[in-house]
Amino acid sequence: MSEAGTMAIDAVVFDAYGTLFDIYSIAAQAERIFPGQGQALALLWRAKQIEYTHLRTMSAMYKPLWEVTQDALVFCCKQLRLDLSLEANSLLMGQYARLPAFPEALEVLQALRARGMKLAILSNGNPQMLSNAVAAAGMHTVFHHLLSVDSVKKFKTAPEAYQLAPDVFGVPVKRILFVSSNSWDACCATWFGYTTFWVNRSAAPLDELGVTPHGSGRTLSDLLPFLDAA
Ligand code: LAC
Repeated sequence: MSEAGTMAIDAVVFDAYGTLFDIYSIAAQAERIFPGQGQALALLWRAKQIEYTHLRTMSAMYKPLWEVTQDALVFCCKQLRLDLSLEANSLLMGQYARLPAFPEALEVLQALRARGMKLAILSNGNPQMLSNAVAAAGMHTVFHHLLSVDSVKKFKTAPEAYQLAPDVFGVPVKRILFVSSNSWDACCATWFGYTTFWVNRSAAPLDELGVTPHGSGRTLSDLLPFLDAA
């Protein structure tokens, strides 16, 4: 499932939410609060959060992802006719603040470090969200950089957001492997010029954008054979 070609890779850059950190763990918390509606709320919340990031970027109305995530939660509860009490709100936002990492994540990151790769996160998350998640997952010593789109006030898929990694590493974008579990993110990073890997955890269809990531797999562990073939 790989066609990276012969281009060498110097750095690996990860999307955060859904790629390293398990956002779908939120469904279990939501199910405890709203029995029968947990899965629906978790899926709609994520979709609305992403929609708001795109709308805000297109309209030059940036605000930090933590606030966008809160706004999306309020909207989704209204749409699903769920009573978002202060307590429910703080439990759900609190869950977002301490998402578990996927089980294979730390081991794969360490294996990449051992191969001499430079590592970074490039995320829509604001710096506080990212440093909390990375610390909670015991990953603070693995990354060379935590890159937040907050520094350019535009969310992915804006080119200014994707430009952060080649700028900080000082290497051509093609020599950076960008890894995301979001099909839209993997596709748009491919458009931008990265070598890309789509972690397709749910065997989802690829977005119909006329572009295909260079590699794909089911978990982060599939990155290692892809890099060996690159
Ligand atoms: C991120 C979202 C898009 O971490 O998953 O940027």
